[in-house]
Amino acid sequence: MQDLLQKIESYKNEIEAFNSTDNKEVEEFRIKWLGTKGLVKATMGEMKNVPNEQKREAGQILNEFKQFAETHYEALKTASDGSEQQATDIDLTLPGDETPLGSRHPISLMRNQIISIFQRLGFAVAEGPEIEDDWHNFTALNMPTHHPARDMQDTFYVEAGQNAAVDWLLRTHTSNTQIRVMEKGKLPIRVICPGRVYRNETISARSHCFFHQVEGLYIDENVSFADLKQTLYFFVREMYGQDVRVRFRPSYFPFTEPSAEMDVSCFICGGKGCNICKKTGWVEILGCGMVHPNVLQNAGINPDKYSGFAFGMGVERPAMLKYGINDIRLFSENDVRFLKQFTSAT
Ligand code: PHE
Repeated sequence: MQDLLQKIESYKNEIEAFNSTDNKEVEEFRIKWLGTKGLVKATMGEMKNVPNEQKREAGQILNEFKQFAETHYEALKTASDGSEQQATDIDLTLPGDETPLGSRHPISLMRNQIISIFQRLGFAVAEGPEIEDDWHNFTALNMPTHHPARDMQDTFYVEAGQNAAVDWLLRTHTSNTQIRVMEKGKLPIRVICPGRVYRNETISARSHCFFHQVEGLYIDENVSFADLKQTLYFFVREMYGQDVRVRFRPSYFPFTEPSAEMDVSCFICGGKGCNICKKTGWVEILGCGMVHPNVLQNAGINPDKYSGFAFGMGVERPAMLKYGINDIRLFSENDVRFLKQFTSAT
C-alpha cells in the first residue's frame, strides 16, 4: 500500500509537470495515461494486491488519481484546440475580402427607367407570351395572311404539329400583349408592355435576332392624337432632358392610322450633327399612332365609342446610346467584364 501511494504521488507530479499546447503531444499524453493500456488503468489494476481492510481507502485514492489525470488532460485539450488559431497571428484590423457585387443588366436598367416614367403617368405593366399564335401577333393587328406588311418583320415560325389549327411563332413585337389586354374587355386601358421579341435578322453589331421592346396602349372615349403627343413629350423630356426637341414624321403601321415615327434632337451632339445621328441632328426613337378601328373591332372593342393610341420603342438602342455601347451582341454574351461595368449604373 505504501508503495502504491508513493507511485501515485510521483505520477501526479509527472502529470502536473506536463504542459503543451501541441495537439500531437497532448494526444500522446492521453495515450500514455488514459489509454486502454495507459498508466492510470494499470495503476487501478493494482487494487487486487491491496489487503482487504485497506481496499476502501485505496479505492478512494485511486479514483481521485484517475480524476486528477482526466482533469489535467481536459485542460490540456481545451488549450491545444485553440492553439492553431493563436499560432497564425490573425490581424483583426485588416479589411475583409471583398464580396463581388452583382449588377443589373443594362437592358434591365433601361427598361426599368422607361417603365417608371410611364408608371408615373398611371400606366400599368402588362406582359404576354413570347411564343404566340398568328392571330395575336399579326391577324388581329390588321395584318391578315398574305398582308405585305408581314414582311416588315421576318418571323421565326415554330414547327407545327400535325393538324395544328394555328400557326405558332416567336412574337415579332410586344403588340401581341396589347391585343391580349384588349380582349379582356376592361376599359379604359392604360398599359405598357415590356418584353423580348424575335426577328429573323442577320446578327451584326447593329442588329440581333432577338431584342427588347416597350410598347404602350391607351384606350378610352375621346382619346386624340394630341393626347398621344403630350404623353410622348412628357416621356422624352423625362428620359432625355427638358431641352430635347421632338419631331413627328408620318409613317405606316398596319395597326395604327394615322401613324408616325418620333425623332428626338440628338442628345449626343445637341442637334449639330454627329456620327450617332448620321449628321442629321435627329435620332429616331419610336413608332406610334392612333389604334386602327379594325384592331379595336378584332379585339371586341366598339370603335365608334372608343379610340386610343399606341406606341412602341426598342430598348437596346437607347441603352447603347446612354452607356456608349457600340455592339448589340455584347448584351447577350454574358461577359462579366462587360456586365460588371454596370454595378453602380442607374
Ligand atoms: N409594333 C411596332 C414595331 O414593332 C411598333 C409600334 C407599336 C408602332 C405601336 C406603332 C404603334 O415596330
